Amino acid sequence: MKNIVVLVSGGGTNLQRIIECIDNGEIPNANISLVVADRDCFGLERAKNHGIPTQLIPRGKSFSSELKQILPANTDLIVLAGFLSILNKEFCESFPGKIINIHPSLLPKFGGKGMWGHHVHEAVLASNEKESGATVHYVTSGIDEGEIILQKSFKISDGENLETLSEKIHTIEYEIFPKAINLVLSKI
Ligand code: GRF
Repeated sequence: MKNIVVLVSGGGTNLQRIIECIDNGEIPNANISLVVADRDCFGLERAKNHGIPTQLIPRGKSFSSELKQILPANTDLIVLAGFLSILNKEFCESFPGKIINIHPSLLPKFGGKGMWGHHVHEAVLASNEKESGATVHYVTSGIDEGEIILQKSFKISDGENLETLSEKIHTIEYEIFPKAINLVLSKI
């Protein structure tokens, strides 16, 4: 059984999808041992509703060191599922190949500091991109720079707006995130 720790900052629909995939066997032999948030958010409620232990570590300079202290010793994989804080270099380098993130664009496009949530979608629409999508990648100390694990794109339609873009990207995320988790877990 592989133990996963999930980090969240928001609504946690990707967390919900991972919980469901573990329950229905799409992600086999895995368990979420802890959900950590860097702020009060609905993702924490989702975890509690499923009896998953939770921890709130307020965002700030000491987040990474506090996380390191409370991380269960048997953690196999750390999954960032809509997590907004930046993990420091020391933390990232302590868990090489064991931290993954989902990003709502076709990295390396529209990644880096400040590129999250609606900022990404606004930038994509403003640059008249022909396609967008989502990417699951390894987390390294360079923001959104780690090796890509899975990526899926779709064509941007005429009249696409923030809402439709976000909805299409979430649908892609629910598809590729569990697949990427399985791929990574098969190598751990
Ligand atoms: C997702 O679009 C993800 O790519 C980004 O944050 C969003 C989280 O959504 N990092 P949710 O909280 O899982 O609904």
